Amino acid sequence: MWERLLLGALAAFVVFKVTLITYRRRKYPEPHEDWTAVDMNALSFPSDFRWGTATAAHQVEGHLVNNWTHHEQQNNLVQSGAACDHWNRWEEDFQLISELGLNSYRFSVEWSRIEPTEGTWNNDALAVYSNMVDNLLERGIRPVVTLHHFSHPQWWEAKGGFADRANAPHFVRYCERVFEVLSDRVKTWVTINEPTVFSTMGYTLGMFPPGHRSLRATLRVMRNLLLAHADVYQALKKIRPEVRIGIAKNVTLFDPKNRWSPIDWPLARLLEWFWNGAWRSGVENGRMFFGDVSAAKGTLDFVGLNYYTHVLVGPASVSLLKMKFPKRAHEVATEFGYPMYAEGLRRALDWLAPLGLPIEITENGVADANDTLRTEHLKRHLWVLSQAIQDGHDVRSYHHWSLMDNFEWAEGYSMRFGLHHVDFETQERTLRPSGAVYKHIIEQH
Ligand code: BGC
Repeated sequence: MWERLLLGALAAFVVFKVTLITYRRRKYPEPHEDWTAVDMNALSFPSDFRWGTATAAHQVEGHLVNNWTHHEQQNNLVQSGAACDHWNRWEEDFQLISELGLNSYRFSVEWSRIEPTEGTWNNDALAVYSNMVDNLLERGIRPVVTLHHFSHPQWWEAKGGFADRANAPHFVRYCERVFEVLSDRVKTWVTINEPTVFSTMGYTLGMFPPGHRSLRATLRVMRNLLLAHADVYQALKKIRPEVRIGIAKNVTLFDPKNRWSPIDWPLARLLEWFWNGAWRSGVENGRMFFGDVSAAKGTLDFVGLNYYTHVLVGPASVSLLKMKFPKRAHEVATEFGYPMYAEGLRRALDWLAPLGLPIEITENGVADANDTLRTEHLKRHLWVLSQAIQDGHDVRSYHHWSLMDNFEWAEGYSMRFGLHHVDFETQERTLRPSGAVYKHIIEQH
């Protein structure tokens, strides 16, 4: 009798699981194109579509003193040092952007330059950023300014940075200062770059400053970042209601490593919720990780999408902590280790669509020192993008990461994402063949 009951329960459980998995498989498909059968030259973009590239201050400017340089020194990491010496070479670098035929450039301003010690403003640095903006506009290039791209002054980090909600007013003050100087000409602003990457890398994995490993702190930082964004949004909109303000959100997709596995599915869903879902719920419903972030509702004029890859998740995903990434048999691994998965760009756009906001692709690119993958990468992603726009997605721009090889955070100089190769000894920039392909595509569209 008991045996039969037990067997019955077991059978019911198996049927339930199989149904659940089948249901999820349908709800969360993982499409893969047969790229040999796709005509990647069949592209169509609206005439006002903007073509761009992106950089970030700490990765290119050089000679900074901030939370990152502190972290690099404390942990004996590769030092960012002179980076691309862009602070002294920005005019030549803008010429490279012009030569590519681009009409949008996303870059970040460096808080530690602008307010090196608390309450002291470096007007010379602000004047340089102002000159950069003028120069871009003269070239017919739209400046897109990011206010926080992973780096900030060490004095602010010492106070706890984003981990302490009480520190937000300093951040708002800095943003207002930059805004006062640039907003007569800069109309598109990104408050914070990749809040989830910043908090997870800095507070869960400890690979970014401040090098902590605490889930509690991670969740707090995620909420505080969204609230800080909302504070800045409100403050800046008061000064100039007509500007467009957004966040650059890294949408990474999480798929079960084994699509038949009842373990991999919930893990993938959980990580996806943690990485993406909680953020969207914050901006949509004002709830994030069971906390109230209602101030963030309605504080986006557009979403910036940074798209790179999907992550395959299974019980061995503890390997995530070591940043090892499995891939499908037919997928190509990028130098970072994660697979090239252009189909995911469409999924990321579909996922953002319920927000009902225009989308700017603020980053997409590949680590590829020898330039063997980048052309294919570009073509696939642009094809997916073109299809998505034709199907009705409101995407306004594409910014390739990056204009040139630069300081790749915890990876130092080992990962090369540039359309231009940089010789870090001589600072010579050389257009890669894939860069020429990008230029050619832009000419045609
Ligand atoms: C960041 C960039 C970084 C790029 C490539 C993005 O997560 O915003 O700063 O260089 O990915 O890894």
